[in-house]
Amino acid sequence: MPGERLLYCGLRHGLKLPYECASGTCSTCRAQLISGDVESCWSDAPGGKTLRPARNELLMCQSMAKSDLTIKVRPGPPSVMPLPVPRILRGEISNFQLLNDQVAVFDYDLDSPIDYLPGQFVTVSVDGIDGYRAYSMTDHKDLPTARLPFLVKKMPNGKFTEWLFSECRNGTQLQGFGPLGRAIFSSDLDGDYVALVGGTGIAGIMAIIRNSIRCGHLDNHNATLVFGLNGIEDAFFLSDLHRLCDENDNFQVAIAFTDMSGYESLQSRFSHFRFVQGFLHDASQHVLDDLSNVSVAFVAGPPVAVDASRMMLFRKKKFSIRKIRYDRFG
Ligand code: FES
Repeated sequence: MPGERLLYCGLRHGLKLPYECASGTCSTCRAQLISGDVESCWSDAPGGKTLRPARNELLMCQSMAKSDLTIKVRPGPPSVMPLPVPRILRGEISNFQLLNDQVAVFDYDLDSPIDYLPGQFVTVSVDGIDGYRAYSMTDHKDLPTARLPFLVKKMPNGKFTEWLFSECRNGTQLQGFGPLGRAIFSSDLDGDYVALVGGTGIAGIMAIIRNSIRCGHLDNHNATLVFGLNGIEDAFFLSDLHRLCDENDNFQVAIAFTDMSGYESLQSRFSHFRFVQGFLHDASQHVLDDLSNVSVAFVAGPPVAVDASRMMLFRKKKFSIRKIRYDRFG
């Protein structure tokens, strides 16, 4: 399609291309232009810092074809199960609601339903603001569905979220693309799982937890979530998580605050939680015990937290890197 990003065009046609964020930050979609002309949609994309101009490298998620092209792409990683083929989405914002000063939820009401897997995300953009932003669906039920529930954090100098938080945007049209992402809860999973999550990375993990409860996985297996937050003012979703703990003996939650000030006020309300201090990877190292029954670790959140947590699991816990599922975006 004219003006379509190379990555989206390829994925829409079923190609197995490498990507993580699909929105210009991770550089995983790097490719080499062999012949033809492209136009960059975002010349300052953070993911472009690692490109080598001498090799004509580009980001597929931030490039549009201006002519017939030949590009050299390394193959995308194998997927644990067949993934839904993503497509172009159209729909509008509804049910926007603030959870605290910086975090809100809203629904993306689509013109037609889609199917997706727990842990997947879509990218969205709005007229007048360049670029796509990636948001995970926070639940996974009644599929196929035309209502995608999102969690969004106001980003400093983030044009999209400043626009979104500035006034009621319910009814505004968004263009989208998805579903995307490989950090999924899949039917092949047979064993316990852990989830190490920073901030709004909890969005896709909520879909995984809720799905694993609904499908009966936690009837016979354990799940441990370590949820990293800056301090109690940043906390959200605690009531939802506590209710899930209350209803499921095999689901444990530890809340890791980098600043513990005032956390005592949460202890009586959230008696099932364990509260610990430290960055996500440090706190997780102390919370997680024997991982021999753990078949998969989900890691989500800011890229620095994801990378540190993956390294901790691999180096300190001797956990196989192949059993860690993550998508870096943020
Ligand atoms: Fe293109 Fe992340 S920069 S997938």
